[in-house]
Amino acid sequence: MKASRLKIVSFFIAAFIVTLLLTSCESTGKMEGAEKEIARKVDSVLSLMTLEEKVGQLMQYSGFGEFTGPVSDDHNYMEVLKNGMVGSMLNVNGAEYTRKLQQVAVEETRLGIPLIFGYDIIHGYRTIFPVPLAETASWDMELIETSARVAAAEAAAAGQHWTFAPMVDIARDPRWGRVMEGAGEDPFLGSLVAASRVKGFQGNDLADHSTIVACAKHFAAYGAAMAGKDYNTVDISNRTLHEIYLPPFKAALDAGVETFMSSFNEINGVPATANRYILTDLLKKEWNFKGFIVSDWSSIRELIPHGVATNEYEAGYLAMNAGVDMDMMGLIYDPQLFQLMDDGKVSQSQLDDAVRRILRVKFKLGLFDDPYRYCNEEREKEVIMNEEHLEIARDVARKSIVLLKNENNLLPLDPDKIKTIALVGPMADNQFDMIGEWSARGNPAEAISLLEGLKNSLEGKAQIVHAKGCQITGEDKSGFSEAIRAARAADVVVAAVGESKFMSGEALCRSDIGLPGVQKEFIMELQKTGKPIIVVLMNGRPLAIPWVKENVPAILETWFLGTQAGPAIADVLLGKYNPSGKLPVTFPVSVGQVPIFYSYKNTGRPPIPGIRWNSKYLDIPVEPLFPFGYGLSYTTFEYSEITLSDTILLPGGELTAEVTVKNTGVRDGEEIIQLYIRDLVGSVTRPVLELKGFRKESIPAGESVTVLFTITEEDLKFYDINMEFTAEPGDFEVFIGPNSVELKKAKFTFME
Ligand code: BGC
Repeated sequence: MKASRLKIVSFFIAAFIVTLLLTSCESTGKMEGAEKEIARKVDSVLSLMTLEEKVGQLMQYSGFGEFTGPVSDDHNYMEVLKNGMVGSMLNVNGAEYTRKLQQVAVEETRLGIPLIFGYDIIHGYRTIFPVPLAETASWDMELIETSARVAAAEAAAAGQHWTFAPMVDIARDPRWGRVMEGAGEDPFLGSLVAASRVKGFQGNDLADHSTIVACAKHFAAYGAAMAGKDYNTVDISNRTLHEIYLPPFKAALDAGVETFMSSFNEINGVPATANRYILTDLLKKEWNFKGFIVSDWSSIRELIPHGVATNEYEAGYLAMNAGVDMDMMGLIYDPQLFQLMDDGKVSQSQLDDAVRRILRVKFKLGLFDDPYRYCNEEREKEVIMNEEHLEIARDVARKSIVLLKNENNLLPLDPDKIKTIALVGPMADNQFDMIGEWSARGNPAEAISLLEGLKNSLEGKAQIVHAKGCQITGEDKSGFSEAIRAARAADVVVAAVGESKFMSGEALCRSDIGLPGVQKEFIMELQKTGKPIIVVLMNGRPLAIPWVKENVPAILETWFLGTQAGPAIADVLLGKYNPSGKLPVTFPVSVGQVPIFYSYKNTGRPPIPGIRWNSKYLDIPVEPLFPFGYGLSYTTFEYSEITLSDTILLPGGELTAEVTVKNTGVRDGEEIIQLYIRDLVGSVTRPVLELKGFRKESIPAGESVTVLFTITEEDLKFYDINMEFTAEPGDFEVFIGPNSVELKKAKFTFME
């Protein structure tokens, strides 16, 4: 009886597996079939094209108004468009206008090949979401995917086909202005975020009118710019390139990203846009990337000032031979490719390959079936900033907030007990800066400031007295007295301070990453009133604010949260949402510690306080201001010791690491439980910690959850002394905790 039941069960399991396999073969088969069909169509279009039309497909021109780089005076895209010499346009917006341009391409040119419209949709299209660094602080991949999906839906309704996002550059220097555009310092977290954003933008079907093509940028190592200065030289070891900077790009590719952007920087002497190893050998050949590579804005032309090309002709030659398929505003491929082809420097098959890649994406978007499917005025009205999108933006915003300090449970505020709140500081009523840089079509007037958000949330329960106090920058202190008067008369002071939106972003780097202007002095003066102060930070990068940390009882890192910043911050201040964000990037004590990141190497002389001859500073601590992974909650969590299922891991086997996390406070809360691993001895030195997993758990007050992490050989792999990606036998430490410092530890051995 038992045996026959077992047989039936095994039969069903086998049948299930076969069905699974067949379905997956079927879908792989279908995908391959669809790719073949597209390739056939691409070839049939290609066979009709003249040399001019082919070169035209490689050209991308910007509409007027939103330049992010130099533009030559004789730039007139309408003329070239009519001649069928444009493949793509960027910075053109709105269903109506994109339709007009598309009409010219489709109805007035010989072959009627549709344009692909691209735009920087970095954190929302018109409903602006938190800047990507902020969203990463949620450690919530579903949420991040949803945010990209909403951005895509709005952009697609307004005629966009393609976003120059996600930026997946790892950033370990907070001086770099573009820190805010990425996912922070860690390749593991960065890879998950990269994949989520790609899935969010592209969905499952590019031809769906609510999805757009994503672009993994900036390939590669742009974030490693020397001294955190934008566009600067990158001198990087092959190991660091492969271990730290490339994984998020690979993750984006595995998630199906259809385009890459070559970066501005050089890598070890060879500019990325002329780097055949990076673009062709690695990306197109080794990684088998089928989409196309667009240059960054005029980065082909910039090969001249880089000093690797004498003139435009040589610049075009280098970029084309490196593997750049589309020229964004370099105005080089047209006309240089004609001469380059004549001279036999660029072959017909090279040109055809680039054209094929671009046409393939246009086919995948469904543009050849209906070139106007994305320009839909009605959908545009319906979709953009609809209620659902605003709700999602508010949820993403509050989940991106990180509580950095909360002495004596000053937060959350209880409006039933507080009569007056002094809301002061240059960010308190500031719709403009709060939405952050790269905010696409975001309109500051449509954003809800902290003042308005707080007023609405209080529903008349407590009075708010607002005084700006000072500007973000400059030396003017004339507003201090009014703000101090307000503080004196209040029960609690909320000081909203930070950076202007034009202090974070492209070409917006800072050498001093403290609070700009007189804001620190402003807080110092407020503090003298003796009133409890909550500092609400709005900024796009880690800030070095040791005085604030030391002296102010409560600090909320709210980054640039976008359209719904005000309501989201109010939700957290008033305890309607219990903060759960964790820092995706280390906050330094001062710029002198930079670069500083949690996964550093031990060195031969790790720091010992008070003793000379080891690796530290005389005048600042070795420890950061706030470590990677750090963030508090209105409740408290207690971690048990780690229980390992075994102390030996064998190849092909697995271990589990288990902890119990108890909510020991009186409020329900969410906790991001982090798992790190250290390889104690390797053929090359290994970081002291590497993030290898995390879980975000909702834990009711007084209750516990037990979390199980599975560790396999895969988690132990790295580039060994021969640059082979492998796991080496030996001892490992495994750590679990609420951040990269407060960790429980256990040990195991990997045996071959
Ligand atoms: C930036 C890119 C951006 C492009 C188009 C460049 O300056 O580096 O990230 O996508 O401009 O706006």
